[in-house]
Amino acid sequence: ATVGHAHAYDTGGGPAAGAAPVRDLAGLTGPRTEQPTTRFTLTATSRTTTLASGEKVAALAFNGSLPGPELRMKRGELVEVTLVNQNVPEGVTVHWHGVDVPNAEDGVAGVTQNAVRPGQRHVYRFRPPRAGTFWYHSHQQSSTVVTRGLFGALIVEEPGARPEGVDRTVVAHAWPVLGGTGEQGGPHRGGGGALSGRNGAGGLLRTAIGDDTRRRQEKVAAGTPVRLRLVNADNCPRTYSLAGTPYQVAAIDGNEVNGPTDLDGRLLRIAGGGRVDVTFRQPAGPVHLTIVGDANASGASHGFEGCGEDGAYGTGRTETASLLLDPSGTATRTPPAVTGPLFDPLHYGTRTTTPFGPGTRYDRDFHLVLGNSVGFFDGRPMMTWTINNAVYPDIPALLVKEGDTVRTSFVNRSLDDHPMHLHGHRMLVLSRDGEPATGSPWWTDTLNVAPGERYEVAFRADNPGVWMDHCHNLDHARDGMVLHLAYD
Ligand code: C2O
Ligand code: CU
Repeated sequence: ATVGHAHAYDTGGGPAAGAAPVRDLAGLTGPRTEQPTTRFTLTATSRTTTLASGEKVAALAFNGSLPGPELRMKRGELVEVTLVNQNVPEGVTVHWHGVDVPNAEDGVAGVTQNAVRPGQRHVYRFRPPRAGTFWYHSHQQSSTVVTRGLFGALIVEEPGARPEGVDRTVVAHAWPVLGGTGEQGGPHRGGGGALSGRNGAGGLLRTAIGDDTRRRQEKVAAGTPVRLRLVNADNCPRTYSLAGTPYQVAAIDGNEVNGPTDLDGRLLRIAGGGRVDVTFRQPAGPVHLTIVGDANASGASHGFEGCGEDGAYGTGRTETASLLLDPSGTATRTPPAVTGPLFDPLHYGTRTTTPFGPGTRYDRDFHLVLGNSVGFFDGRPMMTWTINNAVYPDIPALLVKEGDTVRTSFVNRSLDDHPMHLHGHRMLVLSRDGEPATGSPWWTDTLNVAPGERYEVAFRADNPGVWMDHCHNLDHARDGMVLHLAYD
């Protein structure tokens, strides 16, 4: 297989690529004439920025902040977002990750729109159909620009309901710091965790690798209900520990869990691009959230980009970020060791009826084998990430008709994690490694398929258009692991 950036899937209409044809999506837009209830403007800029750690990032930012501003909106309301590209040479779009918007609003350069060039703007309009925790990011040369900062959290609230207690978004991201081996073009060799502040209103915390001094600590009165919205904005899975209280997993990828039960001492593993909401009542003592990267020795050992130790490839150092909630405000800052069994959504919560069951007849059945091979680009060997032994754009699209029930299996025959993200739809997990899901219906838009794993998922083809289905390790996507879901 041969693949290169010239074939990348999200380089439409940017200065770095010829203007790819954008399909005719007339009729697949959001409401164009009604008055929007809520308006946002996202202005993308390119500017070197100093982190709290003192390290510098060749940042690309929305509205000057890293990450971009948290957007809060209500389910069902008409939202209008104006994207302005001030001076990002790569071009910019906005994809609403996990929000099932009409196809023309999906923000994929080269597929649903052309990239917005410096000096240009683009208006998105949609009604978010479900409440939950989502995020947004540019989808033009995304493997580069998301790492450098063109992303932010997107929270959809139920109309009429005000979040009670503490409702906090925690975005994890490793920043590609300048200097040393991390300088430009090697964005994976530096890093740091980031926790976004209270309800997204500033107060960013970034920790440098190995630097324990910049951790966030907040006073929360005992008895206060707390919801932490955990967003993993990195390529690799991350492990989260929540110590000091039993907690519940309230939502996965913006889908409420039915009948969640108390977990104690369980670690959470969140896919790159995935989200988990946890809830608890603040106890009398401190609660410690600790985020670490996920060691994947195999990713490092094959000598190509992969999910290395904490996503900070080759540094051999441990990277953590933490949030301490404490009624007294005086608790010790030292986070506890991150050990324990992993939370497993497969059997968590209470089953309710789903649109798919053992008796469902599927109109389509797709099998996707995730793999890798060494290809050549410009005469140099490079890793390509494959689906059914092919790379984008040579992977046949999943063709569906509106209304189809669709079953898809993912089998990972490679040595790296693949967080598979489907645009425009949510997938119901049916089984993992042949073991049926028995807990709360597990809906996901970003499913981490670990080496050797096999998942079966189902979805209904209810959102016409041309959609992306790709690995959200954005380096893997750049190097081939992308296909389309297309409606006849
Ligand atoms: Cu979060 Cu195709 O993207
Ligand atoms: Cu992948």
